[in-house]
Amino acid sequence: MSKKTINQLSTRRKFLKLTGLGVAALGLQQIGCSGPGKPAQVVQGLENVPEKPDSSKIWVPVSDRKLRVGLVGYGASKFSAAFGFQNHPNVEIVAVSDLFPDRCAALAKATRCNKTYPSLEELVKDKNIEAVMISTDAPSHARHTIEALKYGKHVAVNVPAVFGSLEDADKVYEAVKKSGLKYMMFETSCFHEDLHAMRQIYNTGGFGKIIFSEGEYYHYMPKPLPSYKDWRLGPPPQWYPTHANAYYVGITGASFTEVSCLGMPSHIDYWQAANNPYKNPFGTEIALYRTSEGGMSRMVISKDTPGESGERGRLRGEKGSFYGKYEGLEKVLIDLKRPPLPPGIEAGGHGGSHGRLMDEFVTAILQDRKPLIDIAMALNLTVPGVVAHSSALKNGEWMKIPQYKF
Ligand SMILES: NC(=O)c1ccc[n+]([C@@H]2O[C@H](COP(=O)([O-])OP(=O)(O)OC[C@H]3O[C@@H](n4cnc5c(N)ncnc54)[C@H](O)[C@@H]3O)[C@@H](O)[C@H]2O)c1
Repeated sequence: MSKKTINQLSTRRKFLKLTGLGVAALGLQQIGCSGPGKPAQVVQGLENVPEKPDSSKIWVPVSDRKLRVGLVGYGASKFSAAFGFQNHPNVEIVAVSDLFPDRCAALAKATRCNKTYPSLEELVKDKNIEAVMISTDAPSHARHTIEALKYGKHVAVNVPAVFGSLEDADKVYEAVKKSGLKYMMFETSCFHEDLHAMRQIYNTGGFGKIIFSEGEYYHYMPKPLPSYKDWRLGPPPQWYPTHANAYYVGITGASFTEVSCLGMPSHIDYWQAANNPYKNPFGTEIALYRTSEGGMSRMVISKDTPGESGERGRLRGEKGSFYGKYEGLEKVLIDLKRPPLPPGIEAGGHGGSHGRLMDEFVTAILQDRKPLIDIAMALNLTVPGVVAHSSALKNGEWMKIPQYKF
């Protein structure tokens, strides 16, 4: 037998060996954070997902030290407490902050922390804090990220990495690179059960190159949700693209290189250009991307279409496809179970992604390694949407997308 054939067999055996578990669970499961019949006017995905037994893996601590963390932002989504930092065996919450004293007090209570600061700007000056979780309004993410890095803090930040600004993307990219600190964007789709499975299969060669992928983020918003300084009042849908884009970028680690995007003038008043501060006319924007692998990807962000809400995706590759389950040239699926959770940590909302995102960030710092969604992936998830909206304003003109590597 030739050396090449033996290598091929060995790769294939690895794939088959790993695939023994998880097929049935994934094949039958409706993945996503919300479903039909859910009220439309709630922030999606905050429901906790019961953890399924994960007998194949046990969480093993990588250190016995406690990372000293500050939490900022306790707005409509109450997000700073939602990821479970306060319960992680390797974390001590040093201080919390929100601009509103009542929210700040509620966050302190929820995380059993007795030190508060009136703002992020004050909190980051605390020399005892090593890492900051930023759950402030989306338009402030870039500025707050840069401010925290400036004071030497590792940064975890909610999506999106930047809000509609290519200049901010470059600034954040440079600030992270210069700092040498860890940065992770908490893109919740990246630890959805189906997306995690697709990432495992992609990494073990079960898809080959992805020829076509698609993702959707449907969130019907006939009335604006509450938000700090009304940032949710009709922004371009593609400025919040990461939940959908994760169904290519979060699987492959690759990127989108060009886009043509279309929008339809919205029938809902505050998604019309005259009625929002962004002069945005669209409630739905659909982007067609060229991928860095040479394939195609279609990403939908829709706010003005009633119906089932949630974040979903699927793909077709040279060697296999995934529509709720793997089908392709490989006959058996690999072990697709998601990483185990530390004791006391719930899988949490957004399809059981919260606890895992938090543990990934903490562990990456303790191990001094890149987190799953590092600055390059965060920007490759976020920036294509910014360009997509510009394309939609020009009726689908093809536009190049800046590329980020780290
Ligand atoms: N699936 C997901 O990943 C998901 C879901 C919901 C929300 N989010 C993100 O989470 C973030 C928070 O969402 P939200 O609904 O709570 O937003 P929000 O606008 O309701 O609240 C933002 C909060 O940040 C606080 N804040 C702003 N500047 C501050 C500063 N300098 N110092 C201290 N606090 C400050 C405000 O006081 C406010 O309470 C947003 O960026 C949103 O995009 C992500």
